[in-house]
Amino acid sequence: MHKDTLLKRLNDKTAVIGIVGLGYVGLPLSLRYSEVGYKVVGFDIDQSKVDILKQGQTYIEHIGSEGIARAIKDGFEPTADLSRARDVDALILCVPTPLNKYREPDLSFVLNTVDALLPHLRTGQVMSLESTTYPGTTEEELRPRIEKAGLTVGEDVFLVFSPEREDPGNAKFTTHTIPKVCGGSTPSCLEVGLALYGQVINTVVPVSSTQAAELTKLLENIHRAVNIGLVNEMKIIADRMGIDIHEVIRAAATKPFGFVPYYPGPGLGGHCIPIDPFYLTWKAREYGLHTRFIELAGEINSTMPEWVVEKIADALNEREKPIRGSKILVLGIAYKKNVDDMRESPSVELMSILQAKGAEIAYSDPHVPSFPKMRRYSFDLESVELTPETLAGYDLVLLATDHDRFDYDTIEKHAKLIVDTRGHYLGVRSNVVKA
Ligand SMILES: NC(=O)c1ccc[n+]([C@@H]2O[C@H](COP(=O)([O-])OP(=O)(O)OC[C@H]3O[C@@H](n4cnc5c(N)ncnc54)[C@H](O)[C@@H]3O)[C@@H](O)[C@H]2O)c1
Repeated sequence: MHKDTLLKRLNDKTAVIGIVGLGYVGLPLSLRYSEVGYKVVGFDIDQSKVDILKQGQTYIEHIGSEGIARAIKDGFEPTADLSRARDVDALILCVPTPLNKYREPDLSFVLNTVDALLPHLRTGQVMSLESTTYPGTTEEELRPRIEKAGLTVGEDVFLVFSPEREDPGNAKFTTHTIPKVCGGSTPSCLEVGLALYGQVINTVVPVSSTQAAELTKLLENIHRAVNIGLVNEMKIIADRMGIDIHEVIRAAATKPFGFVPYYPGPGLGGHCIPIDPFYLTWKAREYGLHTRFIELAGEINSTMPEWVVEKIADALNEREKPIRGSKILVLGIAYKKNVDDMRESPSVELMSILQAKGAEIAYSDPHVPSFPKMRRYSFDLESVELTPETLAGYDLVLLATDHDRFDYDTIEKHAKLIVDTRGHYLGVRSNVVKA
């Protein structure tokens, strides 16, 4: 009975949708539900984010204020008050799943969120976990908590896992054009899950269990981490052989089948690829298994900043300069191009290694005007404006993140020496070293 009422409310869009965690994942999803006509309540424990959103403003560069202002006008309600969970029909959890200092899964955000929601859960609700996690999380951690609160999953409340797929800064896709995988705790849960996402996502892909949905997301990200590791290793080999890896990748990518291009860089960044694979590594141990590809890719990817620093040292050495005392300008400190997200950015690791070796560090990033507060790093720096004079004032310019907004001609014309970690400058250039 609960199921039928809930399905009807989801299908005729009278259901109220609660999104928990208004970050890179939860915020665009909230806007999408609002856009198609649902009433949305957005929950976040960070009151400062709630306050900004309530004013119809954004705090994430690539998510425009206009969409937020429109949603607020249409009834989108950001709040830090989790007791409002009682008023919603769906609770979609989009909270962080980082690693702890031992590089093991840190489920505290997910579990604290669920524990905080439990007193407000009621019959006839659906809960969907979107945070990337290891197979078994929904069944082993969420389901028992809900059932301990006296609610039967599949009858009173419905539980699904539906991983988020986001590519911030990629204009080719939006939330509703990216197919979404969904697995339910029970067949009824899956049915409700498909209705929950069916109105807002063009293609919802059902799978037979929450575990299959959880592992699907990990496979996608492990596939990327391993292939990036492979191409980073190929870069080191090609460099030693005097071959330009970027030329080789471009040539290989003309093969119309069986090859997918991945691009090397100064190391892995972002909230997903450097972190998620280790969720599987941890869980696999319970089964006496080792995730060797993941470990190997992790090893190669995490040593890339050191390799780049070696190339920098060699390039300066050629010009009879040591790293110590050299003025180095790092271009791009976000973890990837055209976004302002600094999480796990290899640029920052590079800045930190170079500074420890005595370099005088500055940075320029049109998306990050001043160096933000980070857990592991602290730089009291503002983004340097790129002019011919400023560029000429540095011993070395390190292209770490190739934002489209950089004026690459001016950079090449005025920088004394460029170390390019992104393969931006094609062919042989007198002042460019590829790394
Ligand atoms: N960013 C991406 O591109 C991306 C893509 C796919 C999947 N994911 C996954 O989605 C999940 C969320 O990632 P994100 O990038 O949106 O994180 P985020 O840090 O941008 O946002 C998470 C939000 O949750 C809030 N929060 C934390 N605990 C809370 C609680 N108890 N109650 C309410 N709000 C709480 C935080 O204040 C924050 O605003 C992670 O598991 C991540 O791996 C992220």
